Amino acid sequence: MKTVDRLDRNNIPKHIAIIMDGNGRWAAKHGKPRVMGHENGVESVRAVVEGAGEIGVKHLTLYAFSTENWDRPKAEVEALMALLVHAIEAETQELNKNNVRLSVIGCVDVMPENVQAKLQGCVDALQNNTGLNLVLALSYSGRWDVLNAVKKLAGDLANNKITQEKINNELFQNYLSTAELPDPELMIRTSGEFRISNFLLWQIAYSELYFTNKLWPDFRKEDLFEAIIDYQNRERRFGKTSEQLTS
Ligand code: IPE
Ligand code: IPE
Ligand code: MG
Repeated sequence: MKTVDRLDRNNIPKHIAIIMDGNGRWAAKHGKPRVMGHENGVESVRAVVEGAGEIGVKHLTLYAFSTENWDRPKAEVEALMALLVHAIEAETQELNKNNVRLSVIGCVDVMPENVQAKLQGCVDALQNNTGLNLVLALSYSGRWDVLNAVKKLAGDLANNKITQEKINNELFQNYLSTAELPDPELMIRTSGEFRISNFLLWQIAYSELYFTNKLWPDFRKEDLFEAIIDYQNRERRFGKTSEQLTS
């Protein structure tokens, strides 16, 4: 039986977030420079975007570059920025054909201007599509997101746009970069690391976490489907007892 046929089509997560990790180790394993790992990771992005679209996932958030990744060697950062521009140029048409929409979360203002322009061009080109919403987390960190939200909220408080009593989960959520998105039901990390590395922090309060040893450039559709099948076999209790859920 094919992996895709083992999926429960009535329980597909609406939002999946992925920490795409292990490009450098993949390259080392193949005796190649790190950047080749990143290049090969693009094929995995293509595969999961296609797979997620096929089974009706609504939002797919990919952690592509963290706030902390700016501290990598200058040559690697430059190579990643160049790769991003190249990938956007190469993929926009295919994404459009697949009815994919693109969004970006993160502190994009600090990205090189040519990268910002390319990203915006791609977002604009795909804005009317109604299929999968591909969310790229770029120059992103969970703490940046929360602090950015707090700054905006503090501004609205100072301008009397809101009052302190109005602050609750729903209101706060609207100040985050993910305001338009439901919280991810499933978060995947590749490469055998068991950490969040400052990805979505507020948003994953109740996400199911899935870790795999696969290195990102080896990750394919079937791996995405396996992760979803694993998710589908979990009991999400949200603090309640198992008995409460089944009665
Ligand atoms: C993930 O792969 C890609 C980015 C963080 C940009 P890494 O480059 O972190 O690969 P490893 O962890 O060194 O193997
Ligand atoms: C997390 O991977 C960031 C992205 C995948 C973009 P890292 O490789 O940067 O994380 P750490 O440093 O190992 O925690
Ligand atoms: Mg890494």
